[in-house]
Amino acid sequence: MRAAVLQAVGDETVEVRDDVEVVGPGPGEVRVAIRATGVCHSDLSAMNGTIPQPTPAVLGHEGAGEVVAVGEGVGTIKLGDHVIVVWVPPCGTCRYCLGGQPNLCTQVMYSAGLTPRFVVGGSPAYGFAGTGTFAEEVVLPVQGVVAIDKDVPWEIASLLGCGVVTGVGAAINAAKVRPGSSVLVYGCGGVGMAVIQGARIAGAAEIVAVDRVEAKLDQARRFGATHAVVPERLGGPKDEITEGDGFDYAFEVIGRPETIRAAYDNVRRGGTAVVVGAGRAEETVELNAFELFYSEKTLKGTIYGSADVRTDFHRLLRLWKAGRLDLEGMISDRLDLSKINEAFAKMRAGEAIRQVIHFGGAA
Ligand code: APR
Ligand code: ZN
Ligand code: ZN
Repeated sequence: MRAAVLQAVGDETVEVRDDVEVVGPGPGEVRVAIRATGVCHSDLSAMNGTIPQPTPAVLGHEGAGEVVAVGEGVGTIKLGDHVIVVWVPPCGTCRYCLGGQPNLCTQVMYSAGLTPRFVVGGSPAYGFAGTGTFAEEVVLPVQGVVAIDKDVPWEIASLLGCGVVTGVGAAINAAKVRPGSSVLVYGCGGVGMAVIQGARIAGAAEIVAVDRVEAKLDQARRFGATHAVVPERLGGPKDEITEGDGFDYAFEVIGRPETIRAAYDNVRRGGTAVVVGAGRAEETVELNAFELFYSEKTLKGTIYGSADVRTDFHRLLRLWKAGRLDLEGMISDRLDLSKINEAFAKMRAGEAIRQVIHFGGAA
């Protein structure tokens, strides 16, 4: 079958090959024919070493598809089910799963990530983040899929699997944005646009979007930003909205030390800066000892939208069905897997919101 393979960390391109095989499903696993998969910045981050990933690996982690085989002992998921792929599969029994933070569960994620799921040219290969959705078929632990209604279009379902749950969840689950508050969002890719929508849904009074790519600014307004500026012009809306004081919340949705620092600097005393972007382990953000105490700000990380995907995917789909979450508008490009390296180039230039790869099959 066809899949996009990263041979080694540091490679600037992936190889689209026809000779990839998928292994399984074994007990407790399912095989899913991927119908649509979004291109997320984390795929690039696996290529350049920002996010650790053993190689060779099939990239892609934001996908949806149809269950085409079920392994022994799988009771909850059936052949033909439509599912969203989950890259933090909740084991259901650990302290995080039982304590309301299943997005922090590592029980299944680590084993899925360290099990070669594919065979490429006769050698074992991993799936990125334990998934590998840039492939016609993937094998996943049963906890790594959530079944959804069959009338949801594949491309809409795929987006939920990473960018949308991460971004909307950052606003509504991690920050719990209060109605009437002021919000700043750094970075308007797919995840940033989802943060903007989450803040809008939560009832933020002002949402200021910041991106260095001018073309993103009008698009950000479409998703609910009340102001949108390049970084050099942030002072204007900051003064107008907060009298220079700073925002109630700032979200960093890029993964760079300087923008994390800027997010922290641009929240008011007592406000909350939320790190959504995935940065490199070698890079550090400096905060001085006095400001940590004196400013009483909260600096908070969030992974996978601090979500419980077993319920939050359905919640997000209800918002979409009610017309309150714009997912169609987030799809800037539709493409075939053969164009994946061009999609990465576009993402490096900051020009895409979400590019979605289609594998065929019924809409
Ligand atoms: N200042 C302002 N905007 C910037 C800067 C900067 N220094 N650097 C990048 N950007 C903008 C880009 O122009 C682009 O619009 O940030 C946006 C990033 O968007 P994408 O590359 O599409 O990334 P996305 O998929 O949204 O992911 C964002 O969230 O989940 C994490 O790993 C993911 O760290 C990544 C982040
Ligand atoms: Zn768990
Ligand atoms: Zn992602």
